[in-house]
Amino acid sequence: MFDAGLAMQNLALAAHAIGLGTVIVGLFEHKKVEEILGVPEKIEVVAMTPLGYRATEGTAPKRKEVTEFVFYDKYPKKD
Ligand SMILES: Cc1cc2nc3c(=O)[nH]c(=O)nc-3n(C[C@H](O)[C@H](O)[C@H](O)COP(=O)(O)O)c2cc1C
Repeated sequence: MFDAGLAMQNLALAAHAIGLGTVIVGLFEHKKVEEILGVPEKIEVVAMTPLGYRATEGTAPKRKEVTEFVFYDKYPKKD
């Protein structure tokens, strides 16, 4: 699952780099999708993404400051 997440993010970043849009989708009817796509029994579909040219330009949500979640050497002590 960890590797699948990394692969999805790389796909999203690569798409963005060439002007395409994506959105990682994990909430769907997994069995139904596997049936429609004819996925073999031993394969489980865990994520999908649409891929294409964006109809509108999106805006990124407010991000945390990097200093809020990147720590060096030790996790900082609480005050
Ligand atoms: C594992 C995973 C599953 C997601 N599933 C859905 C989904 O089912 N539907 C959806 O609209 N977005 C889904 N997203 C996209 C997130 O809602 C979000 O838009 C995306 O991670 C970008 O983060 P940001 O909004 O902080 O930029 C999923 C993201 C991840 C990482």
